[in-house]
This record gives sequence, structure tokens and C-alpha cells, in this order.
Amino acid sequence: MRRTESLRALVRETTLEPGDLILPLFICPGEGVRKPIGSMPGVFNLSVDEAVREAEAAAGLGIGGLLLFGLPETKDEQATGAWADDGIVQQALRAMKKSSAAKKLVFMADVCLCEYTSHGHCGTIREGREGWEVDNDPSLELLAKTASSLARAGADVVAPSDMMDGRVAAIRRVLDKDGCANTPILSYASKFASSFYGPFREAADSAPQFGDRRSYQMDGANAREAMREIELDLGEGADMILMKPAMPYLDIVRAARERFDVPMGAYQVSGEYSMLQAAFERGWLDRDRAMLESLVGIRRAGADFIVTYFALEAARKLMQRS
Ligand code: PBG
Repeated sequence: MRRTESLRALVRETTLEPGDLILPLFICPGEGVRKPIGSMPGVFNLSVDEAVREAEAAAGLGIGGLLLFGLPETKDEQATGAWADDGIVQQALRAMKKSSAAKKLVFMADVCLCEYTSHGHCGTIREGREGWEVDNDPSLELLAKTASSLARAGADVVAPSDMMDGRVAAIRRVLDKDGCANTPILSYASKFASSFYGPFREAADSAPQFGDRRSYQMDGANAREAMREIELDLGEGADMILMKPAMPYLDIVRAARERFDVPMGAYQVSGEYSMLQAAFERGWLDRDRAMLESLVGIRRAGADFIVTYFALEAARKLMQRS
């Protein structure tokens, strides 16, 4: 059954198509800006005009959608840039929705405060008994405001990645109140405190200025807790779930697939991308084969769609093959 490519294709269990892939974009102020990210070859900070071009390229390749992150002009304690109606991602959404890509892509907007707070944490902070701590409940209001503002600017899906407790319910309530009852929530329900986010923090300029994210993101040793987090988010009204990271956590992706009958994505995060890129640069791995194998593995584990920085390149390869 493995003798020829046609035989192998006939019995192949897992498919991978451009439409399964979601491309993350990092939107920055300015015009004509296409600033390369050192630790992520092929990834850029894009100004709105450049991002529109990238969206059109993605649409042309049949990619499923985009996931938008923003680098605001200024940061403050209240993450104003996240929820301001003229915020950088809001501007990008309005421009993209007018472009030829609009009908072909699903526009997902990441909902988090870390790119917008002066301290780089995903919620607001306060002085606690043992030093600073993230202030869960006041953060919910800002996150919900952010989600509503992004949905009103044109996001088809809002994707909270902050890991505050209760944020899905808070976001749902405000979306419904603000006339966005039809906007689904893709919750990063299972998100681990991972070293593999390192390169992203260069791309999104979102490294915490002190401490780390272990008081709100999950401990990498916990699988049962991931299931509980997903259950809670679904109970609060999440429509889809996102698993993150992917490769070091494929067992969690599989466990979630078997347990929950909701659409599920997995995020091949920045560190997964960067380490493959580093190996490609050294000629240690075959670029096309390793890239596609890493993506098929995530699909095989049970993900319906994959957020990946390889989206454009992988889609090009897949189109050449078919
Ligand atoms: C924001 C956010 C992060 C990522 C997605 N949304 C960074 C973090 O939690 O520190 C990481 C994505 C990646 O590494 O590619 N909270």
C-alpha cells in the first residue's frame, strides 16, 4: 500500500489544506513598514497598508484566515491601545474589510492586554501581599471592551489569549450588549506558560517588564487542568477552543479532541517556528518536508485548524503539489 504516491494518497488518513491554516500578523504604526523580526525569519511587523497586501496574498493562496496582533504607538497601565476605537488592529481590520481579501478570509483578532500595557502583563496589576500580582477581575472589563471594539471594527472572531478567569463570560456579555451577538469567541482555553513564546515577544514587543506569566498561564506539567480550563470556557460560552503551544503539547490536543465536540485549533507558536527555521538555515532539516510534517502532525493529533507562521509558505507548497 505504500508502493506508489497514488496508493499512498488513497489511504492517507489526515489531510492538510491551505484552508486549514491561519496566518498571524503583527500590525504596527506607519506606512510602508515591513520590519523583519530577527528571531523569526519570514515574519514582519507590518503597517496597515502592508498588512492589507499580505492579507490579499493570503486570500489568493486560499488560506483560512488571519489572526491579528497589534503594536501600539504608546503603552500605558490601562492598555488603552487595545480597546481604543482607533487602535492599531481596529484600523487594520477596517482597511482589510474594504480590500479584496475581505470575503475570502476569516479575520480573527487576538484579545489580550500584554502588547498594550506598559508592564507587559496580560491583565492589569496591583500591589499584593507578596509584591505585585495580576488583578483578575478589573482586567475582565478591559478585555471585554477590547473584544467589543475589535468586533465592531470588523473582526469575524475574537480570540482571548490572556488566561484571566471569567473572561469568556465577560466578553460574551459585552459583545451581546454592543450588537455583536453573532461574533463567535475562539478561546485560547488551554494555554501553557511556555518558553516557546520567546520569539513572539520580540515580534509583538510584549515581554513582561518584571516577573513572568506563570501566575495566570498553565503549568506545563498539567493535563487534567487543561481539560478543566476548556470545560469552564465552554460553559462560559466559548464557541471554539485554541490549544497552545502545539508540538510539545500534542497529547493535550489529542485529549481535548476526544473529550470536546467543538471546533478546535492549535497554535504552532513562535518558538516552534524559530527552531525549525534555525535548523533549515543550517541545512540540518529539509525545509519543505519538515514544515509540512510538523503541520500534519498537529492535524493528526486532532486540530481542525492550525495557527502558523508557515501559513503562506505551506499553502504555496500545498498548491504546487495538487
Ligand atoms: C498574548 C499572546 C502570546 C502569544 C499569543 N498571544 C504571548 C504570551 O502569552 O506571552 C504567543 C504566540 C507565539 O509564541 O507565537 N498573550
